[in-house]
Amino acid sequence: MILSIESSCDDSALAITEIKTKKLIYHKKISQELQHSVYGGVVPELAARLHVEALPKILEECEGYFKDLKAIAVTNAPGLSVTLMEGVTMAKALSLSLDIPLIAVNHLKGHIYSLFIEKDEVLPCTILLVSGGHTQIIEATSLNEMNIVASTMDDSFGESFDKVSKMLKLGYPGGPVIQEYALKGDENKYELPIPLRQSPLIEFSYSGLKNAVRLLIEKLEKSGNDGFLSEQQIADVCACFQKTAVAHIMQKTKKYFKLQTPKNFAIVGGASANIYLRSQIEELCEKHNTTLYLSDLKYCSDNAAMIGRVAIEQYKINDFTPFHEVDVYSKVKVF
Ligand code: KG4
Ligand code: ZN
Repeated sequence: MILSIESSCDDSALAITEIKTKKLIYHKKISQELQHSVYGGVVPELAARLHVEALPKILEECEGYFKDLKAIAVTNAPGLSVTLMEGVTMAKALSLSLDIPLIAVNHLKGHIYSLFIEKDEVLPCTILLVSGGHTQIIEATSLNEMNIVASTMDDSFGESFDKVSKMLKLGYPGGPVIQEYALKGDENKYELPIPLRQSPLIEFSYSGLKNAVRLLIEKLEKSGNDGFLSEQQIADVCACFQKTAVAHIMQKTKKYFKLQTPKNFAIVGGASANIYLRSQIEELCEKHNTTLYLSDLKYCSDNAAMIGRVAIEQYKINDFTPFHEVDVYSKVKVF
């Protein structure tokens, strides 16, 4: 079995996975959303301190499996360096005391392998990765051949939901609450600019849209009687923002399909839970006869089961990381 650790942002998670069968024996995650919500985003130092409390608490429940462990896997990049460090430090301590090797796992590969938890890999596959930190189209041929064909130039898809939510004082994370409000809103009420609409490039950008939403909110606040938005106005802003944010992704993804229709396509990452995005991607794949793969909703956001799933593949090819080389890397562009 492999014990895997995830602490790249605001989720402390541990999993135990059986190497031969890929079976997920144990998984637990303690999220810090409530503690960060008052700040409208993740506060790295607070997140690190919360990991210090949560990780050992979960580890206690895993003690019974220690004798069966063959390796310790840990996310070491990308993410917040102060929070990654908490998982890496625990992984090193476990590796030393149990005398078993370490496997450093790339968090983005983890999101991709969230598709294959307790399943065989389906590769090659083109992946749309939409999380709080990333918006990318990746052509994945194998575990070690992953080519990023499009990225965001500024904010990510998930991050733009978080920032709009902060502007509307709806708390953190923004994705689920904006999706909920959008259901009650009129998506045609306000016109927002679709980013990079005229650009022939397959690239993403969310800073312009974010700014347009900020200006819209300011205008509505000024025109209201008491300087506040009504519940209906909030719902309308959410619906129009979500529609435009997804329209941007869809426009660029359609461009990609035109160049190269993939046989297999998948959406992964925390924001892949977005129902509006899912349904439009489903339609696109159906039209092109492309098979669509989606992670279970419970494995879209950060978790340790996906890290364990990558670690099985690394274990099979003896891709262990020497103790002194397991460092944290907050920004990694290439796999
Ligand atoms: O993958 P994840 O848990 O963490 C990162 O690796 O970044 O993704 C978290 C992000 C947050 O920005 C959150 O607002 C977004 O995913 N998210 C959503 C939805 N659920 C979560 N964004 C849009 N719609 C959703 N339903
Ligand atoms: Zn993530």
